[in-house]
Amino acid sequence: MQDLMAQTPPMGWNSWNTFMEDLDEKTLREVAISLKEQGFLEAGYNYFCLDDGWEDKNRHVGQGVDYDKKKFPSGMKAFGDFLHDLGFKFGIYSCAGTLTCCNYPASYGYEYEDAARFAEWGVDLVKYDNCHVPDDANGMFLYRRMGQALRETGRPILYSMCNWGFDASETWARSTGAHIYRIGLDSRDTWENFETVLNSIGKVNLTAYSGASCFADPDFLIAGMNGEGAVSNLGEEIGPNAGYNVYKMQFSLWCMICAPLIMSHDPRKTTSDTKNILLNKELLEVSQDPASIPAYLCKIDKQEETHRSKNTVWAKPLHNGDIVVGLFNRNDRPTIITAAFNSLGWLMSDTVEACDLWEHKSIGVSRGYINAEVPARDCAVFRLRRKK
Ligand code: GLA
Repeated sequence: MQDLMAQTPPMGWNSWNTFMEDLDEKTLREVAISLKEQGFLEAGYNYFCLDDGWEDKNRHVGQGVDYDKKKFPSGMKAFGDFLHDLGFKFGIYSCAGTLTCCNYPASYGYEYEDAARFAEWGVDLVKYDNCHVPDDANGMFLYRRMGQALRETGRPILYSMCNWGFDASETWARSTGAHIYRIGLDSRDTWENFETVLNSIGKVNLTAYSGASCFADPDFLIAGMNGEGAVSNLGEEIGPNAGYNVYKMQFSLWCMICAPLIMSHDPRKTTSDTKNILLNKELLEVSQDPASIPAYLCKIDKQEETHRSKNTVWAKPLHNGDIVVGLFNRNDRPTIITAAFNSLGWLMSDTVEACDLWEHKSIGVSRGYINAEVPARDCAVFRLRRKK
């Protein structure tokens, strides 16, 4: 059962960026209902994930970690049932160390009893963090241990490994049974943070280390945060929030590189702009393409692209022979960006039909290359089909 999960990138919502550890069942129920009412569940965002802060401060040895009775008066099983009845899958959080990142009891030394408890509650996803790991512990062994504990529950539980890409974790994530694994630090709602996250993406060879059943995770989608939320810009150079175009860039790239699509804004405050991004059907289809081939960086103008370039061209082959090309402009001025067909596997003499996935319209036929003037800190994304 386990290895059949995550054949395409998992989608959902996580509590961290909006609520931090300030969780309560009543608000979370509202959030879940709001996600459903606004069409996010139907669009595929089906994992509803509690992050840190749901745990009771005391651990009763032999019983597995417990939940905070004040925050979850109806109990975790009932909360999971409520989510399942709405049609969601239930995600929860723990950590490989002695305490979680917010200092709640974590699973080090209790992996098997905690996993059993999660299964009893009907949990469908466990995010497993990396704080307070004892100095003499081997991180890879600890992630394998929780992966093993989850498989032995007999319940299909999606395993979300969160060690921030330390210890070249892309090379061993799959050995733990992880279905998704973080490759960098936390996402925040600023341009500076987005650039940092882009650099973490550039350091991992995605085409070698990300694919069906084990996807690289550059962290949450920030679309819709609009400068709100408990950790919107915590710990960063506090600056303006990233804003519409950057949200659009992040969402486009995440769909192209097969990143998990885990939203983090407060759904009760969803604006129509936010829906334009997160419910962009054509891009969701790109994300969920059954071939699950992550986008690669292309060459432009005969120069080798690097992730640090201010203009980047990413290309993602789809299962039906179409290719999605994303032109990303990290400059603070508009720039013409070009993708040549010979870098995509086509010939310069080929002609393609192109659809603009943000303008939602065909832009006609192109031969040899496609280009566009991309506004500052923005992107253009085209789906191309070769004419035969
Ligand atoms: C770490 C993780 C975040 C979040 C917090 C919770 O920082 O990277 O995603 O889970 O811990 O404490």
